[in-house]
Amino acid sequence: MKQPNTLRHLAVIMDGNGRWANERGLKRTKGHEEGAERVRDITTYCALHPTIESLTLYAFSTENWKRPKMEVDFLMRLLDRYLTNEIPVYMEHNVRLEVIGDIDRFSKKLQKTIAKVKGTTANNTSLTQVLALNYGSRDEIIRAVNRVIDAGEAVTEESLGAALDTPYVDADLLVRTSGEQRLSNYLLWQLSYAEFIFTDTLWPDFKPDELETLIDQYEGRERRFGGI
Ligand code: FPP
Repeated sequence: MKQPNTLRHLAVIMDGNGRWANERGLKRTKGHEEGAERVRDITTYCALHPTIESLTLYAFSTENWKRPKMEVDFLMRLLDRYLTNEIPVYMEHNVRLEVIGDIDRFSKKLQKTIAKVKGTTANNTSLTQVLALNYGSRDEIIRAVNRVIDAGEAVTEESLGAALDTPYVDADLLVRTSGEQRLSNYLLWQLSYAEFIFTDTLWPDFKPDELETLIDQYEGRERRFGGI
């Protein structure tokens, strides 16, 4: 009998916060606040899941700076508040925080909060929650290539993979919420052999129950990795 696929690395594009708020006559920022609650629920679900080791979440892209300053500022404050308040939850569920992306552009305060949470959770082992922050895949690959060149090494799949923001772990499944079907410069290297699932659900409505259904779908798919 065919064995189900094992899900180790789940990558998510959390989309639809703005539309969720608009539909309710609320400000877009309210959608982001509700979205942060789902980040907690989905992370907790993944920490308790028997096979998931990494959860990578697209929280702020290199393109998101184009949004109105008020929304960008709100997202930065929300992130700071979330990370600061979340430490007991990370500890309770044994979750380690990692970050990919170029956070040099963030305020010193936010950079300090990120460093603190990364440090406090460094030895947790149930799940690595990877937040993609000021992240763009092309930017990550370019920075990785330059790291390899600066180290005087040959550019190979191994050296480049190791020079990415986190040593590269293939993503098994990409989920994008809100009905959009595109990659938006996300994890181009890591998603090379991933399965993709797009759901119409807006991120603030995306609950662990639905994730479980999508994981069932993933487990039943045939993955051939280029073979037959
Ligand atoms: C996309 O929705 C979402 C974002 C650009 C940001 C994601 C942020 C969160 C889920 C909340 C904060 C994150 C953490 C880690 C605490 P959109 O605004 O593009 O929605 P729209 O397409 O409907 O306008």
